Amino acid sequence: MSSAKPLLVVLGATGKQGGSVLSYFLSLSPSPYNLRGVTRNPTSPEAISLASAGVEIATANFDDPSSLDAAFKGASAIFSVTNFWESFADPSQRKKAAELGQSIGTFCRDKEFQQTKNIIDAAAKVNTLQRFIISSMVNSNKLSGGKYPHVYDYEGKALGDEYGQSAHPTLWEKTSVLYAGLYLENYFGPTGALFRPKLNQAKDTLVLTLAEPLATTPFPFCSVANDIGVLVHALLRGPPGKRLLGVNECLSLRDSTKVLAEVLGKKVEFVDSNPSFELGDPDLEQVNADMLGFWVEFGYDGGNVDGNILRPGNMGVPVQLKTVREWFEKQDWASVLEVE
Ligand SMILES: NC(=O)c1ccc[n+]([C@@H]2O[C@H](COP(=O)([O-])OP(=O)(O)OC[C@H]3O[C@@H](n4cnc5c(N)ncnc54)[C@H](OP(=O)(O)O)[C@@H]3O)[C@@H](O)[C@H]2O)c1
Repeated sequence: MSSAKPLLVVLGATGKQGGSVLSYFLSLSPSPYNLRGVTRNPTSPEAISLASAGVEIATANFDDPSSLDAAFKGASAIFSVTNFWESFADPSQRKKAAELGQSIGTFCRDKEFQQTKNIIDAAAKVNTLQRFIISSMVNSNKLSGGKYPHVYDYEGKALGDEYGQSAHPTLWEKTSVLYAGLYLENYFGPTGALFRPKLNQAKDTLVLTLAEPLATTPFPFCSVANDIGVLVHALLRGPPGKRLLGVNECLSLRDSTKVLAEVLGKKVEFVDSNPSFELGDPDLEQVNADMLGFWVEFGYDGGNVDGNILRPGNMGVPVQLKTVREWFEKQDWASVLEVE
């Protein structure tokens, strides 16, 4: 890569969002940026594979501000993402939270907020920086007037955004915020089991068991692998100060099931009752219950009460994303669809 190009530093390089940004820019020929990916573990297979594709690997930890200073050196642009769920699922963090007399939810919210502050403070010191893109979520607690206080995976990120605006106004003039939509890839993960239809082979029918209003609430879907990099590039090309919902299509789960049934050549049936939302973890169930309540009542991005977040079509920069149907067509559904 030419050293004359500006440098894009990508946090979460080995993960889904950061990985999408890197693989998107690696696919451009030529890439407008030199690429540096940040990880805690430069010897992981993911980091080694990125290095062999031409990404400079920097080792840093969001909990260690001086490591971030080193990782951001010379950056023209930074993409930031933090992971609430890693500490939420970590038994050692649950032990720490219990010792402090805190719930795991508030502990991880505070941890993600602190990590975001560390990232923002380090970014604010980079005198070569022209653009900061932060993957965040809205303040569901505030937007709902305290009705949904347990959406901790949103709140720590939103508090970080509010901190950046007030503590670092100069950095915020160079900042755009991305609200990643609901990953289509979740269909293939543990939470997807709640929303996936089952296949009734005798009736050749996909059956979705989910009650209204959840079943008919529009969700902003995105493919984290395919879309996040495209959207970050669009945010980098346009002027700063944008707030963008990372969505390729808004569909309710009934509508997405209809699309899936068409793709698979099946009939479709809806059962208007909810499956069990029990996951064997009351803390997770509390976060999920509030998150689903917030989505139904206020919209995934609070869009029912706050119209400040743009959709990709309104950015003023052309963006081409694939539809949900196109994503569905490429997946191996036989591996996940439960037969009833
Ligand atoms: N699932 C959804 O539908 C959805 C939708 C919108 C937003 N989100 C949000 O997306 C976030 C997760 O992003 P993702 O899906 O890209 O996660 P991911 O695939 O699990 O990747 C997380 C990345 O963060 C890095 N990381 C984690 N802790 C770190 C630390 N202390 N210091 C340095 N690097 C660290 C990891 O790098 P190393 O392990 O290599 O160090 C990894 O590359 C969550 O906060 C979630 O709330 C999810």
